[in-house]
Amino acid sequence: MKKIIIAVDGYSSTGKSTVAKQLAKVLGYVYVDTGAMYRAVTLFAMQHDLISKDEFDKEKLIENLSAIQLQFQFNAERGFAEMYLNGENVEDKIRTLEVSNYVSQVAAVPEVRKKQVEQQHKLGDEKGIVMDGRDIGTVVFPQAELKLFMTASAQTRAQRRFDELQQKGENVSFEEVLENVKSRDHIDSTRKDSPLVQATDAVVIDNSNMSKEEQFEKILSLAKTAIEKA
Ligand code: DC
Repeated sequence: MKKIIIAVDGYSSTGKSTVAKQLAKVLGYVYVDTGAMYRAVTLFAMQHDLISKDEFDKEKLIENLSAIQLQFQFNAERGFAEMYLNGENVEDKIRTLEVSNYVSQVAAVPEVRKKQVEQQHKLGDEKGIVMDGRDIGTVVFPQAELKLFMTASAQTRAQRRFDELQQKGENVSFEEVLENVKSRDHIDSTRKDSPLVQATDAVVIDNSNMSKEEQFEKILSLAKTAIEKA
């Protein structure tokens, strides 16, 4: 059977990665979380004091881009590929609220995007891939055979993210998380380079009032139809 490219885009905390991971597993496809790449570059910037609450040394980060090596390595126990930054497993470090607070600024830098997109193209060379992000169906793989655009209300998304962070023991308030969700939506959708927009040929999945099972059933059926058509 022909392998296809499935692009999963949408707002933050809409469950894109959960669905994409699940779909890749059922189809026997490779799953790529492109948000993890932007998060790892952000972590690098934080570790080298290039970004803080008050300033962001964009130029220095651009100068240092060649010193950032990103790699996905499959972890059989967790069932997905984890992110490595210059050889170090940073999968958990890139998921903190601090990284979330800075990542949209880093992801808005065209030079940063160019480098990540090149790597994403290579990962998609052989198709059989489910890639999630913000610009996958519009910029990275405009030729993707199936494009999903996931959305839900900001309140619903913040509640999900808040529950997740609480479970991990992060001491944050719901208001902080809601603020982060709204601010990321704004920066991601209004940046000049590759803003978060719905591809005209994407299928919109609003999961504010949908169970995970209902949602997955619908997406799997869309994927099967796209594969048959390919
Ligand atoms: O999917 P995520 O929340 O882990 O993504 C983190 C940030 O990276 C998000 O605020 C927007 C940015 N991003 C992007 O600009 N382009 C992508 N393809 C993926 C993520």
